[in-house]
Amino acid sequence: MALKFKFAIASDLHIALPHTIWQHPARFHLVEYSIPAFEEVLSQLATLDLDFLLLPGDLTQHGEPENHQWLSKRLAQLPYPVYVIAGNHDVPRVETFNQFTPHYTQFGFKSGINEPNKLYYECEVLPNVRLIGLNSNQFDADGQQIGWIDDEQLVWLESVLENQDYALNLVTIHHNVLEHMHDQSRNALGQRYMLGNTERLCKILHQANVKLVFTGHLHVQDIAYSDRYDLYDITTGSLVSYPHPYRVLNYISDASGDRLEIESFRVKSIPEQADLSHFSREWMGDRSHPFVVRLLTHPPLNYSPEFAETLTPELRYFWAHIADGDAQFEFPNFPPVVREYLEAFSDVPPKDNNITLSLNK
Ligand SMILES: [Fe+2]
Ligand SMILES: [Fe+2]
Repeated sequence: MALKFKFAIASDLHIALPHTIWQHPARFHLVEYSIPAFEEVLSQLATLDLDFLLLPGDLTQHGEPENHQWLSKRLAQLPYPVYVIAGNHDVPRVETFNQFTPHYTQFGFKSGINEPNKLYYECEVLPNVRLIGLNSNQFDADGQQIGWIDDEQLVWLESVLENQDYALNLVTIHHNVLEHMHDQSRNALGQRYMLGNTERLCKILHQANVKLVFTGHLHVQDIAYSDRYDLYDITTGSLVSYPHPYRVLNYISDASGDRLEIESFRVKSIPEQADLSHFSREWMGDRSHPFVVRLLTHPPLNYSPEFAETLTPELRYFWAHIADGDAQFEFPNFPPVVREYLEAFSDVPPKDNNITLSLNK
């Protein structure tokens, strides 16, 4: 069946109106630029004749009602449909769980009208194309936020996927379903960004021939592929952290097969910060030091804090390179063990920013 459509992805907007901003010296996210960065994306998208825009969660700084209100009002002004899901920042506490969907009844969540607790949906976005928006935000027995899909939702997902009326199913979920960096399921940097029960989800998606999942949360540009599940997890970086990226995607199905053309762009300048790229990369360099120390002092490296400190000057832009996507690392001056471990964070195919994915295995 011939299909052709164009959509864009902007993730982890973390919208924060000025009076809602949490001031903290170690604050990692440039939420003060959330609105100008998103406005810049919208102005760049205006000429593209999009079929829809996808926002895979962390729409707001911390789920503040006024930030949700600002965003839903802004989205309602756009000339193309918008679909959103919730990120961990949008439902930060158990009691905020049923306060999210009512803001987004025009943006995927028809459930928000009468079932505000149901944070997942299916939606026909174009003829023969269905978007399934999943909720990966849960709380454990201690009330801690975790990335997990509950059983009720998995049963629902299996049942909706039995309906094969659609030529194409796209899935979006905030937490990562495939590893986007070396050792992500285990290392101290990446583990909490993974969906806890991702294997079960991947099996269900694979059985239904779903090949494309769009995620956020990690604030990194990366495309991961699982040969086992014939599945791509396309994660898009955040608009409030370097490199402030967004993606424009063309899906084409014709006589030569099914493919997804992906292009990535960056917000490089906003009125408040003329050289946003430089400013933001330095900001990340200044603030990623504790994360890098954590990586070096935890398993499998387990270095002492003193030794870790001797390595950190050369790792100032380590996280910025990962966030950029397509990173290639070389640390010829480091001892062999740490050199090998950190160089393994170099990107593995497919490429992360600009690529055409062929979807016929
Ligand atoms: Fe985020
Ligand atoms: Fe998140």
